[in-house]
Amino acid sequence: MNPTVETTLTQTVLERFAGCPDARFKTIMNSLVTHLHAFVRDVRLTDDEWMQAIQYLTAVGKKCTDTRQEFILHSDLLGVSSLVLEINHPPHAASLESAVLGPFYLEDAPARPLGADLTDGMPGEPAFYSGCVTDTAGRPIAGATLDIWSADGAGFYDVQLPGPLVKRGRGKIMTDADGRYWFRSVKPADYPVPTDGPGGVMLQKLGRTPDRPGHLHLIVAAPGYTAVVTQIFVADSKFLDNDAVFGVKKSLAAKFERHAPGRAPNGEQMNVPYCTVQFDMRLLAAA
Ligand SMILES: [Fe+2]
Repeated sequence: MNPTVETTLTQTVLERFAGCPDARFKTIMNSLVTHLHAFVRDVRLTDDEWMQAIQYLTAVGKKCTDTRQEFILHSDLLGVSSLVLEINHPPHAASLESAVLGPFYLEDAPARPLGADLTDGMPGEPAFYSGCVTDTAGRPIAGATLDIWSADGAGFYDVQLPGPLVKRGRGKIMTDADGRYWFRSVKPADYPVPTDGPGGVMLQKLGRTPDRPGHLHLIVAAPGYTAVVTQIFVADSKFLDNDAVFGVKKSLAAKFERHAPGRAPNGEQMNVPYCTVQFDMRLLAAA
């Protein structure tokens, strides 16, 4: 049987990459085209489906803004973000595990003093977080930075609220000389990922739910150690085993202990119930 374009086209395209001077880029593009062509052959993609895909990707791009990242959301929803994390930051028995960055991170969170209230008045059950950052041998790491961001008690990030952006629930704090940290925020609520864009359409067509267990985001970094992008999850969330973005790891689940109104760990008199969370983190020395 004579070869057809269907059987020869992939190789023809790859041969056009022969002059690429960037070896890594060439490797990535070779693999991408090989898998993409195999996918098209595998599902026998129709003309209409091809056009739907073009329109879908266009809609994903149009949904993106300076504070809304629909591509990251899709990467999360398809498990790609977690897979990239696992490849680049494989679990180490003695160190803090990673979890997806998500679409709501802002790079320029303000520096806050140790013990700061990060809520900036956002609604939610008060929660007092504390713990220690150490190396894998348990030695305290002074001056480690915790870059923290969180949804409010209703599950909304500041960037999701209507009107001009007013940052809240964000801040960078540093551990003290004994590696200890503490700060106030809220108990994060379970929340659905944004479903008002193409991601919501995809979830509905797949019969999937958009829910995430309550979690507080943070990036933990210290000179000489491997930084970790991670999340602290509410241990008793009903969505812990069905996270829409495949981010949960058991070691990242923390108990949010509820207290009646009274004296909080920072000495503040609380007139409403509040939570305390104890979560220690171990960092690997940089390679
Ligand atoms: Fe989140």
